[in-house]
Amino acid sequence: MSLSIARSLAFAAALAGAGFFAIRADAEQNNVTFPVIEDLTHYTTVERRITVEHMLTTPEALAAIKAGTQVPTGTHIVLQDFQSGVLTRYLIAQKLGDGAANWQYQWFWPDGTIKADERTDQCYSCHRSWENQQFMFTHDGAVSFDG
Ligand code: HEC
Repeated sequence: MSLSIARSLAFAAALAGAGFFAIRADAEQNNVTFPVIEDLTHYTTVERRITVEHMLTTPEALAAIKAGTQVPTGTHIVLQDFQSGVLTRYLIAQKLGDGAANWQYQWFWPDGTIKADERTDQCYSCHRSWENQQFMFTHDGAVSFDG
């Protein structure tokens, strides 16, 4: 292979690489918004070793979950992730339409910016195993919250 062909191949690969990252970053923008955390209710906590996760959602969503009805469109469910007492990220699920499966997911840093390279389709795939309980792993915690 001549040197010039090798160079153009390397150039093409670099362009393809740049395009790939641009597409990935765009792909991870979605419609999930960052909520006003102070307006949400802390309904349960999950702890394992240095990890403490506070789960929060709206009072209206908690009432719907207890009643066994769909949470209102727009509802945020937030996982506030603390590592050794330091807030490290927010994992956020948001109900974006009427259908029971109409949830989207996003990872936000503590400053409210998103983690642009996160594969949010993987959030959805894992959470959909609980499609019959509002896509929530901590559904029982929300049902039993009496606070
Ligand atoms: C492989 C499975 C899996 C993936 C992938 C996953 N989660 Fe979860 N998620 C869980 C489990 C299990 C819990 C319950 C808390 C725990 O055990 O830490 C949870 C809890 C949550 C909660 C609190 C509400 C609930 O369902 O209990 C939110 C919000 C959440 N995850 C958002 C996200 C976001 C955003 C992503 C992607 C960036 C994501 N999750 C990826 C398994 C997953």
